[in-house]
Amino acid sequence: MEHPLAVVILAAGKGTRMKSKKPKVLHSLLGRSMIEYVVDTALSLQPQFVGVVIGYEGHAVKKELQDKPVSFIEQNEQLGTGHALMQAASDLGDFSGMVLCINGDTPLLQPQTLQSMVEKHGEEKVKASVLTTELETPHGYGRVIRDENTTLLKAIIEEKDLPDEYGSIKEINAGSYVFDSPSIFQVLRKIDNDNAQGEYYITDVVAVWSREGKKVRAHKAENYQEILGINDRAELARVEKLMLKEIINAHMREGVRIEDPDHTYIEPQVKIGPDTVIRPGCFLQGETEVAKEAIIGPHTTLIDSRVGARSQIISSYVNQATLGQDCNVGPYAHLRPETVLAEGVKVGDFVEIKKSTIGRGSKVPHLSYVGDAVIGPGCNIGAGTIVANYDGKEKHKTEIGEGVFIGSNTTLIAPVKLGPGAATGAGAVVTRDVPANTTVVGVPARPFERREKGKTDKM
Ligand code: UD1
Ligand code: MG
Repeated sequence: MEHPLAVVILAAGKGTRMKSKKPKVLHSLLGRSMIEYVVDTALSLQPQFVGVVIGYEGHAVKKELQDKPVSFIEQNEQLGTGHALMQAASDLGDFSGMVLCINGDTPLLQPQTLQSMVEKHGEEKVKASVLTTELETPHGYGRVIRDENTTLLKAIIEEKDLPDEYGSIKEINAGSYVFDSPSIFQVLRKIDNDNAQGEYYITDVVAVWSREGKKVRAHKAENYQEILGINDRAELARVEKLMLKEIINAHMREGVRIEDPDHTYIEPQVKIGPDTVIRPGCFLQGETEVAKEAIIGPHTTLIDSRVGARSQIISSYVNQATLGQDCNVGPYAHLRPETVLAEGVKVGDFVEIKKSTIGRGSKVPHLSYVGDAVIGPGCNIGAGTIVANYDGKEKHKTEIGEGVFIGSNTTLIAPVKLGPGAATGAGAVVTRDVPANTTVVGVPARPFERREKGKTDKM
């Protein structure tokens, strides 16, 4: 490789302005942590080395990134961003090439932006490149001071240290840099902490190199939004909203109807088929996949779930469940992990289903609990049916064959099996297996026999 590349991500700070116990970079946007976005962007550049500088709650950051091919660099005291990069000297002190340094709190950064900064840096043979952009309200950011004649950079000055004369500058430091290595580690030794925050600022290397007559260039990002840093909760919400807007627009471009984009939450991994309607107040999370022509919502949460074509789910909470085609769920259903609904299943209001499979065309229309059960096709589970799957110590299984009819308010005491075509009377408490095509009634349930022809059946 002509210009070997290493990346260092700064993620040791507490993030005081978040007012949180959690380190700033572990706060999440659309279900993924801030640091994960930045690390994935860095890895997509295929550098030779990615190091993450950790400090405050470093073990938690390490854990979050345990599956990523990155190295960890400890910064025991958070003495500033310059001090943070300096900690990489033991890993990179002998590295000859380019070091891309990225703040861990800018999750919108796009790989192409960094890639083009890296390429330009290599072509122009400068000591440093600083990613910049212009902001109408540059509040909180370091300001970029350019040389009037050459447009090279003279300095970056933090807002807290900014003299009045620079007050009108709108070009800001985005917090990503390409440095020449190993000279960056020598110049870092020359910076001090004589500033408003008493910290070693990484940004001071610009002034040091500029004074020494070395070239530092700005790489201006076209899209100002992607450089937005997150320092407090309001900025976290703002950046998350921008990410969400992108995702929602992408789905709409692919033919998904999203009725109210301002009141819809969709995480990055979610897949949705064309002509599916997402009604207001929905949360589609994790690895959820919704096929075409489905209707989701209003007010429905889907987490790591699959929904078949043309299924409809109203005002329900669905977690790690799989629904076939043409199912009808809700309002107010709760489908819990390992629930599988075959094609054409109906699950109605106030029904909870856990770790159960419901066969094709079966119905659980009202007020039921079904847990650890396998229900065959064509069954009707009456209102108020309860599968008593837990004896206080263990969970037990219930098996219901094809075409079974469960009367209202039946309690099925697991483990229990009901053969195909079996039925229970209203209020039955089923404690023993029921053979095929047999009706049981009463408490405890027993086979029902007609006593006299022509008379109403009473137990
Ligand atoms: C920094 C820049 C500022 C720029 C802005 C862009 C400096 C001095 N200022 O300010 O010019 O406009 O980013 O978003 O760099 N960190 C460490 N160790 C430390 C201190 C910080 O690892 O000792 C990490 C933090 O975890 C964070 C990143 O460095 O991920 C940036 O720190 P932060 O405090 O957010 O800097 P800003 O004030 O935003
Ligand atoms: Mg910041």
